[in-house]
Amino acid sequence: MPKRYYITTPIYYVNDVPHIGTALTTFAADVTGRYQRMRGREVLFVTGTDENGLKIMEAAEKAGRTPQEHVDAVSQRFRDIWTGMNIRYDDFIRTTEPRHVQTVQRFFDILREKGHVYLGKYEGWYDVSTETFFKESDLVDGKSPDGNDVRWVSEENWFFRLSAFEVPLLAHIEANPRFILPEARRNEVVAFIKQGLRDACISRTNPGWGIPVPGDPSKVIYVWFDALINYVAATGWPEAGWESLWPAEVEWMGKDILTRFHATLWPAMLLGVGLPLPETLVGHAWMLMGGDKISKSKGNVVAPLDLASELAQRAGCTPELAVDAVRHYMAATMPSLTDSTFTPDEFDKRYNADLANDLGNALNRSLSMAHRFVEGVVPGGPSESEASAAIAEAKERYAAAMSEFRIDLASQAAFDLVRFLNKYIDTRAPWALAKANDPALGGVLRSMLLCLRTAEGLIRPMLPSSATAIAAQLGLPPLECWEQTGAEFSLPEGTRLGQPAPMFPRLDLRAPSPKAAVEPKPPKQKKPTFEPPKEIEIGDFMNVELRIARILEAEAVEGSEKLVTLQVLVGQERRQIIAGIRKSYEPADLVGRQVVIVANLKPAKLMGLESQGMVLAADGPDWGAILLQPEQECPEGTSVH
Ligand code: MSP
Repeated sequence: MPKRYYITTPIYYVNDVPHIGTALTTFAADVTGRYQRMRGREVLFVTGTDENGLKIMEAAEKAGRTPQEHVDAVSQRFRDIWTGMNIRYDDFIRTTEPRHVQTVQRFFDILREKGHVYLGKYEGWYDVSTETFFKESDLVDGKSPDGNDVRWVSEENWFFRLSAFEVPLLAHIEANPRFILPEARRNEVVAFIKQGLRDACISRTNPGWGIPVPGDPSKVIYVWFDALINYVAATGWPEAGWESLWPAEVEWMGKDILTRFHATLWPAMLLGVGLPLPETLVGHAWMLMGGDKISKSKGNVVAPLDLASELAQRAGCTPELAVDAVRHYMAATMPSLTDSTFTPDEFDKRYNADLANDLGNALNRSLSMAHRFVEGVVPGGPSESEASAAIAEAKERYAAAMSEFRIDLASQAAFDLVRFLNKYIDTRAPWALAKANDPALGGVLRSMLLCLRTAEGLIRPMLPSSATAIAAQLGLPPLECWEQTGAEFSLPEGTRLGQPAPMFPRLDLRAPSPKAAVEPKPPKQKKPTFEPPKEIEIGDFMNVELRIARILEAEAVEGSEKLVTLQVLVGQERRQIIAGIRKSYEPADLVGRQVVIVANLKPAKLMGLESQGMVLAADGPDWGAILLQPEQECPEGTSVH
């Protein structure tokens, strides 16, 4: 059987449900899995829940449930949340399952048979919240190095001869530069091991919950020792077939559980049993809120699905695309070495900038123009070399980032291609080519559509629902294969394009975001009072000449927070309009758009600049503007009634 690409996440404690920080690790693994599938690998992506240990017993007690009732309920919540977040895992392992318990006991037995496990006396400090043993000298002001409460433990216990693995561990790390990523983390691990490793206490007095030590039911196996073995248990080891799954190609985790556990205890356990080590351990940094760890006790928990459903309500996008918006935030801000900080405002801003503006405009403009200028049918190739080069570069950057497990950089490569597309449209100005009957028009439109098709492929691992929606608008089946991504043949000539449909409606940035709602609101500004007469004659309305115009150029007016100078095309005529829409639109995002203008308004001067008309926009809250745009591209100058 060919080796499957095996991806793991930490198994999560069921003392609490996932928040956006915990979701980050699972999301990273999901993106890796989806990308590897695109590259043709058969993938096994396993996640699960860590259900033994004192921490869980205490959480169950607090919840007024038996440990079993508690772990069943919370573990199910994890699965529901992962499904809601469109996480495509293949297996979900629970440490209370018989397959796990049996593997752990077998593992323990083998280590004991080989002389790596012995009985001794443990005296020291135990931190229940991280299930970690500490010696006196590790404590800081009587607490764990993380500031958690510790309790004194003095018991006869089983020990694992961790100290014997110092040299082989260092040798493995040195010989395998990709064993621990990112590189800076590897240095931390090496420094930790070089300080000297103590044998690890791997049992606790049986509190009535946990995996009994084989042959010594008065003890349960230490929860970390038990939990780490899940990675091997999910492969079916020691039963036949495990070799096609183990070792894992990548084990994802947060930095807090890399050094002591995944990069030291775990590989030593594997070496002791005689199993190969995982190929790569990736320890990402943390996502913080207000400079703090995200935690229930700090009251700063953001649940990923709540964030998505609030967004769907506020922006009006579909629930699936709202989930993609949360996924996009996680991908784009995925902390690698340094911690990131979640703020609701940053989340909104990123949604507007990347999804509503960059991706939305690229899609809308490309499809609208293809409908308008080539009757909605994909022109023949080849694409222009400038576009082909941008596509090749994006693909290369993306693949390089993914091979280093840098999801943030891969996301950036995909969205840089989208931004290239918007600029390309501005500079190649298909509307001008069409007007001049320039034969380059077909190649330019094809290039635009191929960039879009490539972006669909590149964003697919992070934003699967958005990618599928883009494919549908292109009138094509989803692009699910890396070789096709960016290739001319992925966009067959003659394909009938679908209609552009907005995917990510713009969010009003000044609307208080849900978490910011607790902050005091600034005093409300009054709207200008403009009372139209109760009735007007149709003739009054007919006096207003409304026309379709295309924005050719847009530039912020210096010294003004609100005004933008627009150069627009109305029929054959070019005009300058000064519009008060700066607060809602970036000038660069306006270029190429069609708008409705009042064409016979007496010219007026605004900040010394002549305005020859007015752009129509709906009033957004707090002085915002929402531009009116024809539902389909139509000739510039078309009258509106
Ligand atoms: N049960 C252990 C793992 C055992 S694996 C054999 C555990 N569980 S956990 O639920 O506390 O944490 C799981 C993962 O979530 C860790 O990788 C941790 O780094 C990650 N995160 C928890 N909060 C996080 C953030 N705020 N930001 C990023 N990752 C965070 O540890």
